[in-house]
Amino acid sequence: MPISKRAKNVVASSTLAITARAKELKAQGCDVVNFAAGEPDFDTPDFIKKAAIKAIEDGLTKYTPSIGTVDLRKAISKKFLDDNNLKYDPTSEIVVSCGAKHSLYNLMQVLVEEKDEVLVPAPYWVSYPEMIKLSGATPKFLETTSGSQFKITAKQLEESISPNTKALILNSPSNPTGTVYTKTELKDIAQVCVKRNIFVVSDEIYEKLCYAKEPYTSIASLGKEIFDLTVTVNGVSKAYAMTGWRIGYFGGSKEIAQNVKKIQDHSTSNPSSISQAAALAALGAPPDTLDAMKGKFQKRRDVIMKCLDKIPEISYIYPNGAFYIFCNISKVGEDSVSTAKKILDDTNVACIPGKGFGADEYMRLSFATSVERIEEGISRIAKWVKENSK
Ligand SMILES: Cc1ncc(COP(=O)(O)O)c(C=O)c1O
Repeated sequence: MPISKRAKNVVASSTLAITARAKELKAQGCDVVNFAAGEPDFDTPDFIKKAAIKAIEDGLTKYTPSIGTVDLRKAISKKFLDDNNLKYDPTSEIVVSCGAKHSLYNLMQVLVEEKDEVLVPAPYWVSYPEMIKLSGATPKFLETTSGSQFKITAKQLEESISPNTKALILNSPSNPTGTVYTKTELKDIAQVCVKRNIFVVSDEIYEKLCYAKEPYTSIASLGKEIFDLTVTVNGVSKAYAMTGWRIGYFGGSKEIAQNVKKIQDHSTSNPSSISQAAALAALGAPPDTLDAMKGKFQKRRDVIMKCLDKIPEISYIYPNGAFYIFCNISKVGEDSVSTAKKILDDTNVACIPGKGFGADEYMRLSFATSVERIEEGISRIAKWVKENSK
């Protein structure tokens, strides 16, 4: 079979193997606790579903502009301004895609090419390196440690820039670590990017799930120069429990938006018209609509930390955002893949090995599940660790 080098070079998603095995066990009737989920366990709110049903009934079932309806782009422009103090023109500087993942993929296609390097702080979301490779460019990882809460520093960034460095991907709050950059840290990073003319792709998909007191900062809001170098990516998947609807978007320069538009014109065309109507309803809702979901996530985070605190062999970094806790398991097993597999086989608890995130001494546990299941799952892990630790 003549499979392209490009496709052969892509590494399959490491999160899928465990998820598939967990599903298998569940189908066999096992009582599986799922800490593997990368999505909210809540149902999409009713008012959003109703907007989608109304869109179908009103006949909004045709093609829309490939970069999304004017109404949705206007709502996104308002969101950027209200929440992030960013001014993106809805007609020329905003593109709606089939999920933030799609926006990020298209952006890599537009921003970089062979010989270019894209800086990726590690641990990283599994798809970044593959998207970069698919664009022909090379990912260059900036290693971080738990000591710096898995954050890069401005000095480290500056030292990592080579003549081929074109862009930096920043993800705050982070999947898999839950780390959130402060305004001061972002200012320092922005300064380096401006000085060295490095593009920033700021993946803000978990923006609405920040538990720290400090208000969320978008790096592009820190001055005109960094605004001009930044593409701000976001979407409705995580904030509104809408992962299956596939609506993401970005704000960036006219030139970038126009070029992404060309790619969408000839590949996916528009994201589903019905999902766009649903996203419009979501973005138009009062800000406190999200408080209940966020409050539950925060409570679950506190519960999972309390449970993990009783296992001395496992440490973690305090997650200030998203719904993940990144656990150091180096005192527990050989490597993350075999440890996660053993835990699943022995206890029916599914966790994601850190290897795919560039951190083989870690496992990612998602707390997008109920308090009862968190307590049950961690107590099974605690028992397993007692019996199996080195
Ligand atoms: C860091 C990060 N960015 C982007 C995405 C993609 O989100 P979407 O569902 O909008 O494609 C995810 C989803 O898991 C993610 O974790």
